[in-house]
Amino acid sequence: MNEIDMNKVDMTAENAWEGRYQNGTTSWDRNGVNPLFHDWVVATLASDAKILIPGCGHGHEVIELSRLGFNVTGIDIAPTPVAQMQHELETEGLQASIIQVDMFTYVAKQPFDAIYEQTSLCAIQPEQRLAYEQKLYSWLKPGGSLYALFMQTDAEGGPPFHCDVSDMKALFPTSRWDWEKARPLQSPHPSGRFELGYRLIKC
Ligand SMILES: C[S@@+](CC[C@H](N)C(=O)[O-])C[C@H]1O[C@@H](n2cnc3c(N)ncnc32)[C@H](O)[C@@H]1O
Repeated sequence: MNEIDMNKVDMTAENAWEGRYQNGTTSWDRNGVNPLFHDWVVATLASDAKILIPGCGHGHEVIELSRLGFNVTGIDIAPTPVAQMQHELETEGLQASIIQVDMFTYVAKQPFDAIYEQTSLCAIQPEQRLAYEQKLYSWLKPGGSLYALFMQTDAEGGPPFHCDVSDMKALFPTSRWDWEKARPLQSPHPSGRFELGYRLIKC
């Protein structure tokens, strides 16, 4: 189902992101699923897991999870990728919950088992990060997994904004999140940069 709640859309952010989609200036888009997605995320999900993908854009991972039979929700502020994703789902006869909404106002009807965060945190203004961490925390069940890809640019400004690991450790404190001990995955990004993949468990 494609829901639109116009009271819950920040028009400035919507216009900025919508403009990029309409102009085709979407250098972040892989035109497919992240190559790490199956081994890193899908392989660890229970078959009845409910998964949220915030800032999902064209939603390649949303569509793939739906193909695999998972209960998946994708949210994004921009109408164009939401409509394209909906069209693709309908064409393939797939089910997913697709919502055009500002994620800062999105309230989950029920908490999720897992969240896949790919290139959304680095897309928002750094002063919005704390509010985003609070939303991520609120959307997950206790014990739920946040698969987070932290963008590495080592540059000033953005988007994408650099997600320094020490800043991420402060943003996702161990009082609220268990950081998996494994070394982070390195995910090459289509823009030529790379992301570091960490699995965090909500305490
Ligand atoms: C860099 S793109 C990444 C898209 C997708 N995750 C991917 O990897 O292809 C950032 C996405 O976040 C969305 N976005 C930005 N601010 C948002 C907000 N406040 N609420 C919901 N989506 C937002 C944009 O529309 C855009 O699709």
